[in-house]
Amino acid sequence: MPRKFNRSINYDDEDDGYDDYDDYYDDDDEEAPSSVKAPVKAAAVKSKDVAKTVEAQPKKPKASANLSNVGSSNHKEASNAKLKAAELGASPKEMEGAEPQVLEGIMHMTLEGDYRERGKGREQTPALQKPIEAFIPESWILEEIKQERKPLLHLIVIGHVDAGKSTLMGHILHLLGRVSQKEMHKNERESKQKGKGSFAYAWVLDEGSEERARGVTMTVAVAHFETPKLRVVLLDAPGHRDFVPNMISGAAQADAAVLVVDASLGAFEAGLDGEGQSGGQTREHAQLVRSLGVEQLIVAVNKMDAVNYSQKRYDFIKGSLHSFLRQCGFKEAAISWIPVCAMEGENLIAPPSAPALKSWYSGPTLMESVDSFEQPLRNTLKPFRLIVAELVKTRSLGQAAVSGKLESGALRIGSKVLVMPIGEIATVKAIEQDGHPLTVALAGDSVDVGLTGVEPAVLISGGVLCHPDYPVPVVTKLEIRVLILGITVPILRGGQVVLHAHHARESAKVAELVALLDSKSGAVVRKKPRCLTANQSALIEIIPERSMCLEVYSQFKALGRIALRDGGKTLAVGIITRIISCQ
Ligand code: GTP
Ligand code: MG
Repeated sequence: MPRKFNRSINYDDEDDGYDDYDDYYDDDDEEAPSSVKAPVKAAAVKSKDVAKTVEAQPKKPKASANLSNVGSSNHKEASNAKLKAAELGASPKEMEGAEPQVLEGIMHMTLEGDYRERGKGREQTPALQKPIEAFIPESWILEEIKQERKPLLHLIVIGHVDAGKSTLMGHILHLLGRVSQKEMHKNERESKQKGKGSFAYAWVLDEGSEERARGVTMTVAVAHFETPKLRVVLLDAPGHRDFVPNMISGAAQADAAVLVVDASLGAFEAGLDGEGQSGGQTREHAQLVRSLGVEQLIVAVNKMDAVNYSQKRYDFIKGSLHSFLRQCGFKEAAISWIPVCAMEGENLIAPPSAPALKSWYSGPTLMESVDSFEQPLRNTLKPFRLIVAELVKTRSLGQAAVSGKLESGALRIGSKVLVMPIGEIATVKAIEQDGHPLTVALAGDSVDVGLTGVEPAVLISGGVLCHPDYPVPVVTKLEIRVLILGITVPILRGGQVVLHAHHARESAKVAELVALLDSKSGAVVRKKPRCLTANQSALIEIIPERSMCLEVYSQFKALGRIALRDGGKTLAVGIITRIISCQ
């Protein structure tokens, strides 16, 4: 049965981080299938205390004056941005923006590029207590990795609101026998009674009462299924723009993605280019998952029934999306295209039966395509690190328990772990995966871990459990290399943003615009620019309001990828190039 990830509804960052946390935990109307809602509120409050040593504690003004919307292709807005940039003293070159290959640059960036001022009294990345290279895995880990295991793949389903993501995955889970007939009949009956009959399959994943009433996914649902080659952890993300932070948290765990687009006339266009208040999450999600490390993508062109399975419409969609996805940094060979109808089950696990689709499509089914995803390399022989996605509490795991993905190393019952950012040692008393007890978990596994020796309140989502000798840095100031997306208001020094990294997000201040970079080579185009505008690549310094568990990208990718958001929009994506100060 699916369970919920970011179970507490996490609305977008309209406000400062503290208020967000407050909103976050007031919702308790969902049932708890396998874990009760986590007491993260207490943990978040605790984390404020933990962060006392942050260099500066700027408070975000309610109306952020200098950072705002992105993602719009509206030329009028873009030229306003240029005018504004000119007012602020940007050179014509700065205003030109970079190549349209916005995300490609960041993906291929040279981390050792010549943009960095060397020496000159700048602080260095704090050294870990022991260099990671010195780590020698214990013999039980070497024994474990010899065991044959079916590869595990975390698959996130993304796309614009109402594209049919939950229906698609609910139908697949049903076809695979992961949802009982009894439950399916219940969903059909109850959704019909509530006037939401078309959501019966979506209800397999949309379990929250508010989600069902609104017909909108709000939090990431987690379900499990298998293909001939893979064990798949399915992460069904919300498409609505208000819940992008939840989607980011899910994407941080993902190894691959299915981007669902609605083929209906006007709907595909709204998902790509935006429409009024609610548009554009096809674009935003694709940019975010790629920048969060997802390299393999299936584009499921859904609702093909609504366009009579027209090959012309499918080709148009493929043509329109293809170059954008390439600009996002997806390699040609890593993108598959599959026409489907989630509602009718067309081309999901069996080849098409609809004559109109059969007549022109003879490629793989969606499941065949999922089965051909590669499992990314796992860092099992590195020191243990698990990024906490959620706090859980069950009878078997106890009160102090977390769920998350092992990004490196291995864990077994009895292991000692360092709980960060608090810095306390705990002992692993239980490990579970999909409700089943395990004795050992390896890098790449997502598990629930029950701990003893720590208070539940010291556990926070976005925290890290790590090897006691190899603590994760708890960062108070950092340097990031970013690619600015289609913002309409320039980014200035001193501006407020929300810094998203893995499962953490914090209000943060842009402390310094260090350099404007050539997006391809990483060479400095200009030091200390006055402002940053759309499509530029830059090096900036950031001070989060509260310290965060982060790493330099080149040392530990999963902790080194970031996104900057404000006012419900993604402003920039990038990587951490330097940790300037730590707690
Ligand atoms: P969010 O999670 O809220 O972003 O939505 P979603 O992408 O999960 O969409 P969901 O599965 O909730 O479906 C939205 C609506 O699209 C529902 O009314 C579905 O019945 C409908 N829908 C989904 N797939 C298809 C399809 O293949 N054809 C048609 N005609 N409608 C579909
Ligand atoms: Mg959904």
